[in-house]
Amino acid sequence: MSKSYPNIRMRRNRSSEFIRNLIRETSFSTNDLIYPVFILPGKNKEESIESMPGKKRYSVDKLIPLLGSLHKKGLNAIAIFPVVEKEKKSHDAKEAFNTKGLVQTAVKIIKKEYPDLGVITDVALDPFTISGHDGLVDKNGYVLNDKTVGVLTKQALSHAEAGADIVAPSDMMDGRILEIRTILEKNKFYNTKILSYAAKYASNLYGPFRNAVDSSDNLKNSSKETYQMDFANVAEASLEISLDINEGADMVIIKPGLPYLDIVTKIKNKFSIPIFSYHVSGEYSMIKSAAQKNYIDEKATVLEAMYCFKRAGCNAVLTYYTPEIIKWLGEK
Ligand code: PBG
Repeated sequence: MSKSYPNIRMRRNRSSEFIRNLIRETSFSTNDLIYPVFILPGKNKEESIESMPGKKRYSVDKLIPLLGSLHKKGLNAIAIFPVVEKEKKSHDAKEAFNTKGLVQTAVKIIKKEYPDLGVITDVALDPFTISGHDGLVDKNGYVLNDKTVGVLTKQALSHAEAGADIVAPSDMMDGRILEIRTILEKNKFYNTKILSYAAKYASNLYGPFRNAVDSSDNLKNSSKETYQMDFANVAEASLEISLDINEGADMVIIKPGLPYLDIVTKIKNKFSIPIFSYHVSGEYSMIKSAAQKNYIDEKATVLEAMYCFKRAGCNAVLTYYTPEIIKWLGEK
């Protein structure tokens, strides 16, 4: 008997909810989410982010109760991004490793309040440089690799000392994972994890984020193409990731999210390292804007996206939709 219609009817296993539930190949839960948060200096502050409707930046005291209620409902981890005052930006980005800086202080407070909440910090200099670049620049505006790595290692160490569980270099300098791993080992931070933004593409989807952290005015029309990857490339992502694995990364990020899932699957089939994806600001704002006009169903679209990340091979996803997803999953 041939294995074809009508012996095989693909629709049989789709005919009711229980069977769809049984044969589902991927699952998705609050454990898979990382919530990126923007923090402001000072107290009692809360500001809307124009480029990301529905999202806000908070001073740490305002963020604490919010994180508490999400953590109770299953929030597993956050990623912190600071909004740095103009006066604290400099050519040498020394505020990045100030042990009393905004990020370092926030990590201490959050870890004290919620020891079980995973805290991830961003290792990159863009909030702290006048150029708005992720590294130090020479007089021609070229981002200097080795000098930048020197600052990044100090920044990563200051985050580890503050109690960060995971440091996440998002700068795309060469060799920084090895240098950061070396300084962490030397200082006995054996369990501080390194989440490398190993394949970070020079994407147009970061625009809303740069507005959120106030770096767009600094960056102006300058691009990050001399360090972030060309979006036309795929083999190069493999090489980036193999280097970072050898240098000591515990996990890697592929960024941005949905348009880059082909990279996730290829890497998944090639390496055994955990892969996270970053559903970036531009992706958030696109869904949000369409939903606000009722062009799409926001909840259904976002949950679909999360399954797509899992199906492609991601272990976890950084998404600004984390609070909404936690709420939606709770409703089911
Ligand atoms: C920079 C950084 C960026 C994002 C996270 N870290 C932007 C950039 O490379 O300019 C973007 C995240 C997002 O768009 O949501 N270190």
